[in-house]
Amino acid sequence: MNQVVLDLITDHHELHMRWLDTLSYIENLGARRISFLKDPLCVSLDILKHAAEESRHAYYFKKKRTDLGGPSKGKIVLLGGSVSKNYLRHLDLKILKILKTYFPNQTKEDRDTMSYALTTYASEKRVGELYSDYQEIIEKKNLKLNLRTILAEEKQHLNEMEKKIIELNFGHVLKEKALQIEDKLFKRFLKSIYQDSLNWVTKMLKDRGQDHPLNKNEILLGHIVN
Ligand SMILES: [Fe+2]
Ligand SMILES: [Fe+2]
Repeated sequence: MNQVVLDLITDHHELHMRWLDTLSYIENLGARRISFLKDPLCVSLDILKHAAEESRHAYYFKKKRTDLGGPSKGKIVLLGGSVSKNYLRHLDLKILKILKTYFPNQTKEDRDTMSYALTTYASEKRVGELYSDYQEIIEKKNLKLNLRTILAEEKQHLNEMEKKIIELNFGHVLKEKALQIEDKLFKRFLKSIYQDSLNWVTKMLKDRGQDHPLNKNEILLGHIVN
């Protein structure tokens, strides 16, 4: 389903700029989340590396957005609105809630470390799939972007989180639960991005006095949630 949504977005300059803004926002949020995880007096090299790489991903998407003609500063309008804005925050909150149920006697610090591992594991797994699909479309349409370096780094992050989860001795159940939670949130995210994009295209065609031929796409939208 990613391909259908990404195909529509990359067909329209305005939507593609907002998509790049949205990716930059989520990457930046991820970087900040990692930065605030540990007391700066106790931060490890691994954590600094991870935060630096997510920050660079945020920079890359923002830079590409400005290369497409968008401003480099000012408030952005996310594709997918509040659902996109809250995707990562909701993932964090829901995983923390589960950890509180499973480990009610853990310290906050231990729970934050476990939450970091599970949330990052689920989101890195997703991002690997999403960016691979995006890279395919980029190549198919000859767009001036290249996600290969980012994809390699995200894969490395996923491997590190898998090792960390083994070290923390979570067991398989919580790993699966994290994936289920993320899957639900991602479907909402994708649906909202798609709906926002369809609304934009419909309005654009209406402004031009054309009928909107979107029924087929609107049917496809239903498959994202079903
Ligand atoms: Fe990233
Ligand atoms: Fe990552």
